[in-house]
Amino acid sequence: MFESLSLAPPDPILGLTEAFKQDPRPDKINLSVGVYKDEHGRTPVLAAVKEAERRLVAGQESKTYLPIDGSPEYARLVRQMVFGDEHPLATDGRAVTLHTPGGTGGLRVAADFLKQKLSVNRIWISQPTWENHRGVFSAAGLEVAAYTYFDAAANRLDHGGLLSSLRQIPPHEAVCLHACCHNPSGIDPTPDQWREIAGVLAERQLVTLVDFAYQGLGDGLREDAAGVRELIAQLDELLIVSSFSKNFGLYNERAGALTLVAPTPQAAQAALSHAKICVRTNYSNPPSHGGAIVCTVLADPQLRADWERELQQMRDRINHMRALFAQTMKAQNAPRDFAFITQQRGMFSFSGLNPQHVQTLREQHGIYIVNSGRINVAGLRPANMTAVCNAIVATLGGG
Ligand SMILES: Cc1ncc(COP(=O)(O)O)c(C=O)c1O
Repeated sequence: MFESLSLAPPDPILGLTEAFKQDPRPDKINLSVGVYKDEHGRTPVLAAVKEAERRLVAGQESKTYLPIDGSPEYARLVRQMVFGDEHPLATDGRAVTLHTPGGTGGLRVAADFLKQKLSVNRIWISQPTWENHRGVFSAAGLEVAAYTYFDAAANRLDHGGLLSSLRQIPPHEAVCLHACCHNPSGIDPTPDQWREIAGVLAERQLVTLVDFAYQGLGDGLREDAAGVRELIAQLDELLIVSSFSKNFGLYNERAGALTLVAPTPQAAQAALSHAKICVRTNYSNPPSHGGAIVCTVLADPQLRADWERELQQMRDRINHMRALFAQTMKAQNAPRDFAFITQQRGMFSFSGLNPQHVQTLREQHGIYIVNSGRINVAGLRPANMTAVCNAIVATLGGG
């Protein structure tokens, strides 16, 4: 039977990485990948993570299974990070947390829970969104539809379009929102806009799933949770998926979480019991190491301070590259104003370049960008900024 299969299409972004590797030009630049890069173009292990790993290896006595939902300590620390230490939801029993294999694992458990336990049939994703949302949700048997998000002409949030899209969704259908650092656009609602979004979600009785993959990479750990705080102020049920791939640099350790917020502790426990069945019939229980690193770092005041400093360095570097990009484009008399890049947040930005520009940049300049024009801002460095900006200006026909 396997012989009857033809090759499935490659993942569009990973396929580009393959083409990049095979490009013989020494000055090629990859702005397509989805990982953080430092000023040397590396994706390092954070020092706080290294130290936590040293302690874990020294102290480990068993590799027995974790509980289906992971350790209670991890759950508690994740809730404190998402809601803030002082928020009642961190401790009052209305929120429960499952440790999942990365954010993707959390999204899949959430999708299975929605479909199998709440009989939700359709989920709405932003247009545009992270490539894998559609795949993960439809693999769980959910129908996927898109709501308006991005105003391409003005390069900003189409807030009016977003609200009217949400108002048309039938009650009890699900909506997936990015908590911060929207991937791929880099554009997030303001706290006031979040308040209005939360109002519509509540009024329409929509099931809200928040994808929180970049906490701390926008404006700060607390600042980036502003949207979540606006949502929980108006909604008494919510699903929140965290990923520690980017903010802890734990990509291949697969550390993530699914937090379910319910109106009462009893309802939260019932929801947890059902979500655990989704886990048990999928991967049984979570991988330990990445979660143990997160726990060790968050629970130790010194390690936590070290990690927050490293996180701030990543965030500051990204935001500095945004400013330098806009400034360099201006200095080179680019035929467009790129100041909007400095308003966007997180690792990604929509550059406004079209597929034709993207192709020219790849073929003529060895600069790799995904077709949508999304660039990984963390792929920019002072050392490659002039080359990137020169190539974009040449491609746009200005300068
Ligand atoms: C918006 C969004 N959600 C979820 C994920 C998945 O993260 P993880 O690698 O932890 O599965 C990503 C990763 O790029 C992402 O950009």
